Amino acid sequence: MNILVTGGAGFIGSNFIRYWLEKYPEDYITNLDALTYAGNLENLKDIESNPNYTFVHGNILDAALVDTLVEKSDKVVHFAAESHVDRSILGPEAFIETNIKGTFTLLEAVRKHKKHFHHVSTDEVFGSLSLGDTAKFTERTPYAPRSPYSASKAGSDHLVRAYSDTFQVPVTITNCSNNFGPYQHPEKFIPRMITNIMDGESIKVYGDGLYVRDWLFVKDHCRAIDSILQKGNVGDTYVVGGMSEDINNLEVAKLILDYMGVGEDRIEFVVDRPGHDRRYAVDWTKIHQDLGWEPEHHFQDWLKETVTWYKANEAWWRPLKTQAEQFYASK
Ligand code: NAD
Ligand code: TYD
Repeated sequence: MNILVTGGAGFIGSNFIRYWLEKYPEDYITNLDALTYAGNLENLKDIESNPNYTFVHGNILDAALVDTLVEKSDKVVHFAAESHVDRSILGPEAFIETNIKGTFTLLEAVRKHKKHFHHVSTDEVFGSLSLGDTAKFTERTPYAPRSPYSASKAGSDHLVRAYSDTFQVPVTITNCSNNFGPYQHPEKFIPRMITNIMDGESIKVYGDGLYVRDWLFVKDHCRAIDSILQKGNVGDTYVVGGMSEDINNLEVAKLILDYMGVGEDRIEFVVDRPGHDRRYAVDWTKIHQDLGWEPEHHFQDWLKETVTWYKANEAWWRPLKTQAEQFYASK
């Protein structure tokens, strides 16, 4: 099988490519990535010389390039996106371009060449749940995005479904919860905390810290996409989540401080994110019942592993952290 992966130089895409080539060494992967600030070929250093892997430096908005690459592939797995909520508040336009128009460009190509398109989306399209509530997002939850990031992802999801309904493009969609693990950019919450502690700095907790995310280890997400590509029902959406059971940001911060042997005086409460979604939680019953998938990696164990990975890979994250700090300081 020839798979075209978009955004494979980012966090989840690079984990997916590594996962796939380990599990299916006969398959071929082409990685189309524009190498924005979030794209990093260092994420795939161990794979770059694999004869079954090809990197193409290009933009998903480039219709001619996308058309050529889609024609040569059997399936497309679409990760490429602007993915950080804070950046979408500082500058929403790139989110509209890449997440909506970029997805449209890909859809035109898969429509023409009749290829299976797997769209990687987020649970953030469903908006915010309340604290203390037991409700969870399902495939039937109405869309209610609240940030420019989640609104742009919602727009892309609607387009994907429209191409399925109107043009019979074979699509599948995943809406998954917050991922964590190796190669996540140090501007995101968990890596930011770990790298700040390593630098002797405070960790920045937005608002009261009582925000809840449904943390999913990145490899479990890759396994979920695998099960959908192998046996998912064309046209279907699957929500994917972890098993972290309503742990809030402050509790995550305290776990990391504990693993790193540092006191809670390092916590600094900082000004809150505007429109900050209170709680995300995912009910992954459908993918479990239909495809037998469930998360395998326990949050606390793999959080500890993630701390170990960042401690061992300072040379990887250091330049990204410096660049991100300069970016935010300039705003
Ligand atoms: P990321 O920001 O780490 O990586 C995005 C990648 O896309 C980068 O390599 C970047 O260079 C590339 N890219 C951006 N714009 C591009 C363009 N116009 N053309 C080609 N390549 C481009 O993102 P991530 O965290 O790996 O997320 C991957 C996907 O998963 C995204 O679609 C995101 O919305 C979704 N998602 C992420 C999470 C999470 O917790 N990280 C959770 C749910 C869903
Ligand atoms: P983030 O990793 O940006 O993911 P998302 O906004 O897509 O959920 O943030 C995860 C949670 O952590 C979210 O509630 C915002 C919060 N947060 C902090 O408290 N401090 C930080 O420095 C960052 C980056 C995020």
